[in-house]
Amino acid sequence: MDFSHTLQINSQGEVVQFGNEFQRILQCLPKESAWRTFLYKYQGIWYYPKSLEALLFTQEHFQAKATDVVVVTTPKAGTTWLKALVFAITKRNRYVVSDPNHPILTTNSHELVPFFEFMYRHNNIPDLPNQPCSRLFSTHSGFNLLPDSVKNTSCRIIYLCRNPKDNFVSLWHFMNKAVAECDTEPLIPLEEAFELYCKGIHGFGPIWNHALEYWKLSLQRPDQVLFLKYEDMMGDTTSQIKRIAEFSGCPFSLKEESEGVIDQVIKMCSFENLSNLEVNKNGKRVVPFIENKNYFRKGEVGDWINYLSPSMVEQLDQVVEKKLHGSGLTLS
Ligand code: A3P
Repeated sequence: MDFSHTLQINSQGEVVQFGNEFQRILQCLPKESAWRTFLYKYQGIWYYPKSLEALLFTQEHFQAKATDVVVVTTPKAGTTWLKALVFAITKRNRYVVSDPNHPILTTNSHELVPFFEFMYRHNNIPDLPNQPCSRLFSTHSGFNLLPDSVKNTSCRIIYLCRNPKDNFVSLWHFMNKAVAECDTEPLIPLEEAFELYCKGIHGFGPIWNHALEYWKLSLQRPDQVLFLKYEDMMGDTTSQIKRIAEFSGCPFSLKEESEGVIDQVIKMCSFENLSNLEVNKNGKRVVPFIENKNYFRKGEVGDWINYLSPSMVEQLDQVVEKKLHGSGLTLS
């Protein structure tokens, strides 16, 4: 595919100049003005154009290795937390969890487990480490858009999703922080955001399509796809951490368990600890420009009760129930 001219986007988030081949693709896609930007629907999922371009570019240029681990989530499912956990678990031979200089304590986990969407942005082909141990990557991409080498090697995918009501509330807060930083647009009213969310129109949405796709894969290929839910992680973090470690090929030994390594991982990656680190209180990411503190809000299950009316709850529950009916997947 010809990516010779990278995308240019106007202040409203609309694409005004495209790469040749990508232009032809985008112009055929359904497009929506939503969340103070523009989204394009590709193979059932709504994408930001720059993310879509980067993911198509990733497809062409990323070569997975069998030992790679790819963290896949929907936005606001707890990505920041899962990345920290996966890094701490899979790299514990190199970085002792109790080390006061552990990378998690000085670096935001999005830097430690980078998104394909940003690594491959602007036609950039990153210089990837050729290390023998697990390389860690992440994405919000739908499965269809993942590089063939991720889909077809024994490389592992750890997937995380979240109850849509909390996911929506978290997304609404996060998007409004982004809008507030731009300073040019009015904030997005809750009701407007909610209607879009119920129609599945948000970046990488609808989450029920996204989650269903990975859910089915986790049943068909349990060695390749591990399916996690934020609520289960909050409810019994120890069990879920053990699942992650076993799935990633580095289970905790009895000695580690008796020495309290799992508890150390939980504590280091807890909301309390991560959100109070200097890097997460005052640090910023350059691409995309986001203040790290925006990744931490409440870190609770059930905060939706403070935002959604009974009729909103009924509406969203019905949408989700209809989409997931018969699949065996529940998201509430
Ligand atoms: P809330 O907005 O409900 O508080 P993501 O990382 O995918 O952007 O998701 C952000 C959500 O995960 C936010 O949810 C945030 O507070 C929560 N979160 C961040 N770190 C966490 C942690 N260590 N433990 C639990 N939740 C965490």
